[in-house]
Amino acid sequence: MPTILAVESSCDETSVAIVTNRNVIANVVASQIKLHEQYGGVVPELASRRHLEMINPCIDQAMTESGLSWSDIDAIASTVTPGLVGSLIVGVTAAKTLAMVHNKPFLGIHHLEGHIYASYLGEPSLKPPFLCLLVSGGHTSLIHVIKSGVYKTIGSTRDDAAGEAFDKVARLLNLSYPGGPIIDKLAKEGNPHAFKLPEGKVSLPNNQGYHPYDSSFSGLKTAMLRLIQGLQKENPDSLPVADLCASFQYTVAQALTKRAIRACLDLNLDTIAVGGGVAANSALRNTLQAEAQNHNLQVFFPPLKYCTDNGAMIACAGEEHFINKMRSPLSLGVSSRMNLENIEQLYSVN
Ligand code: KG4
Ligand code: ZN
Repeated sequence: MPTILAVESSCDETSVAIVTNRNVIANVVASQIKLHEQYGGVVPELASRRHLEMINPCIDQAMTESGLSWSDIDAIASTVTPGLVGSLIVGVTAAKTLAMVHNKPFLGIHHLEGHIYASYLGEPSLKPPFLCLLVSGGHTSLIHVIKSGVYKTIGSTRDDAAGEAFDKVARLLNLSYPGGPIIDKLAKEGNPHAFKLPEGKVSLPNNQGYHPYDSSFSGLKTAMLRLIQGLQKENPDSLPVADLCASFQYTVAQALTKRAIRACLDLNLDTIAVGGGVAANSALRNTLQAEAQNHNLQVFFPPLKYCTDNGAMIACAGEEHFINKMRSPLSLGVSSRMNLENIEQLYSVN
């Protein structure tokens, strides 16, 4: 089995990992949360500068932790899209330089494919076809994983991503960044039925009902804003933060679960793999697990450390492409967006 070293730097985590046979040998993650926290979100210019500072120490640490030498590494992979361009460039330049210096093949990886592959790290027996519910800070998608490297996105968000909604609602409640983990924690003390909130259905044209798989979270965010303002007017000194967090989280979990189950049944699939930072959410885990059981479906969530951005998931995707004889040219650039359906553009077959 090949051994792949991968670099991830698409947003606010610098990560370098080494994976072989879907087994993580090293996974070093330098999080920038502390840096961006004071601004309530990621500041792209600061992110790329911090990646530049951290990339070499992360590479050194991953190599040291693995106990391997460069001759043991078969290929170098790196996230090339989608993401913050200035941040992506840092990781990709480091990865290409390593590929050149050590004379290894280079593989450009789509970040969302990485999130899909995070599920294989926890469940090596997982095999396509399956449905992936991908819920991160930048994306909310239902992806039909048809076979290795072949994807069809059948549902997405029309506005805010699920993680983005957690982050924005946390800001409304004066909670820290990122919002997901703190809302998840506070929600444990609250009543999920304290407030009824809109689930964010997306209407189809000509009164044809609602889109079965698409979601919208901006209406929910606005409803939270109005609710918080109303409650503050009534009682300026005590906001029922736990109940607000629990009700918001419940609504998001319900919206995502309904769409994922419906899509899985409609596509005649029996497995849902969840990926992205919001896959760490406890309400989503419980609701989806229970609903899937009711419909005789299997659900896999990656281990918590592989839900948020990490190099191991990129290396895992890189390993599969390497085995399938895909290679990326060193002239491959980065891009802020690319549809998952187009990833063959990243490779030529050797
Ligand atoms: O996948 P990720 O690390 O970065 C992107 O590719 O976007 O996801 C980060 C997102 C943030 O919006 C964060 O608030 C959310 O994942 N998140 C959570 C939880 N942990 C992280 N959302 C809900 N519940 C959590 N426990
Ligand atoms: Zn991500």
